[in-house]
Amino acid sequence: MKTIHLNQTDSTNLYLEKHLKELPKICSVRADIQTAGMGRLARHWDSAKGGLWFSVLFKSPELIPFQLQKICSLATLNALNDELESAKRSKVKSGKFLLKWPNDIYFNSRKISGCLQKNIFTPTSSNCIIGIGVNVNNPLIEELIKKAINLKTILSKEIDVEQLYHHILENIERRLSDFSQEELEADYRNNQLIKEGTHVKVLDIVNNNHYTGRVIGYPGETLEIFTEEGLQLAFKAADVTLKSWED
Ligand code: BTN
Repeated sequence: MKTIHLNQTDSTNLYLEKHLKELPKICSVRADIQTAGMGRLARHWDSAKGGLWFSVLFKSPELIPFQLQKICSLATLNALNDELESAKRSKVKSGKFLLKWPNDIYFNSRKISGCLQKNIFTPTSSNCIIGIGVNVNNPLIEELIKKAINLKTILSKEIDVEQLYHHILENIERRLSDFSQEELEADYRNNQLIKEGTHVKVLDIVNNNHYTGRVIGYPGETLEIFTEEGLQLAFKAADVTLKSWED
């Protein structure tokens, strides 16, 4: 996969969007610093030096965006779990990396990675940009310290960001060439932090409504819950945030 390395940009997602026409069918851009990093639901994404901030462009892909998003987040999850495996056990914090719907990665109860997707349609093509942010060696800002974590803290050592990036890209390429929808769904389901049957609260930001219920599953691009009132509801990631969970 062609890769582009920038010292600084506003957002790697925006960079790919701006250069869409001249870029190859599949490629990736990474920046050391993003000055306007974007998170889900129009939030700001803090992107200081030392983190892994990158986006992958898929021009007219054979797969649909939610499949690409699951591929990218599982590729990141696998690379993080490999880092954990190969680190010296005595110095490593105990825990495991898991996905939190839709595509966040958590270590125990703290977020280490997030994923932001943008679809771009032209009269002749549909394109998908998947941006991934991983807290690696970057210091976390005060308000994030309780809810987020970086890889350096988990492994008690400075991490080679470039090597981690290439490991993730290799995982993405392998998952694309060996693609199976059944395996993707099973892998995604098996690596969830919030298991089926868990009690959750969902905030629907479109209608500003809260729903509480138990997770039925995560089919396709949805979260399905069974509410306390006996309703079966399906939510898309663009409309809701999964607020809290408990066993
Ligand atoms: C989230 O969890 O809210 C999604 C965060 C996505 C951050 C990444 S960093 C690389 C890419 N560029 C951006 O501006 N955002 C994504």
